[in-house]
Amino acid sequence: MTRQRIIAGNWKMYKSIAEAVSFVNELGHKSLPAEVAIYLAVPFTAIAEASTAAQGLPIRIGGQNMNDASEGAFTGEVAGKMLVDAGARFVVLGHSERRHLFNETSEFINRKVKQALAVGLEPLVCIGENLHERESGQMERVLTALILESLQGLASSDVRRVILAYEPVWAIGTGRPASCEQAEEAHRLCREVVAREWGSEVADVLPILYGGSVRPDNAKELLAQPDIDGLLVGGASLKVDSFYQILDYQT
Ligand code: PGA
Repeated sequence: MTRQRIIAGNWKMYKSIAEAVSFVNELGHKSLPAEVAIYLAVPFTAIAEASTAAQGLPIRIGGQNMNDASEGAFTGEVAGKMLVDAGARFVVLGHSERRHLFNETSEFINRKVKQALAVGLEPLVCIGENLHERESGQMERVLTALILESLQGLASSDVRRVILAYEPVWAIGTGRPASCEQAEEAHRLCREVVAREWGSEVADVLPILYGGSVRPDNAKELLAQPDIDGLLVGGASLKVDSFYQILDYQT
């Protein structure tokens, strides 16, 4: 089964508009691997200019969050169609920082996923267990619940438009990535959950990315695992050099 190889950068709350544009220009001048789809989740303020800079390049620009409503009196929130208007093609939803620091529930994320699909954004949905859950043997239960709740009510045709990211909370920003075996085990489990709920045809084509302390020195090994289709990279996506080394993992 050939699934799309995706390497996504998540810039979080970093970079000015000028920095975002110069990153895209610099990356765009490099020889980019044809088999990898490159995604960059940039701050809201940089989406429009980064999208313009990415025109004609194999780089998709996206947002890191959105609201579940199409519009309304929600001060400070951003609607999915506003992201589309600015040039975004995908949106990260349910990142552990949103779930834990901003108390977003899977129910809320599920509504955002539906709204993203409704406006034509590709949802990149993040799930992952925390250290306590892993150490107390609850990983399988937690991942299953996060997938079923976050994607609840979606038809198989909708799930085909989703990208899943397995990001163990204990590995994010800690410099302590999951081992290849740990990551592969979790990815296989996620794929089985999707197969049970939406059918194996959907599970077989669903890209599942690994995220959490991905660096140039562990990217290749992670990508060699059969169920790891791509990577979601935080810290190492902020510099062109380290992000490019991850993209260029085959050389
Ligand atoms: P990290 O972040 O690569 O800095 O661990 C990953 C993420 O939060 O998506």
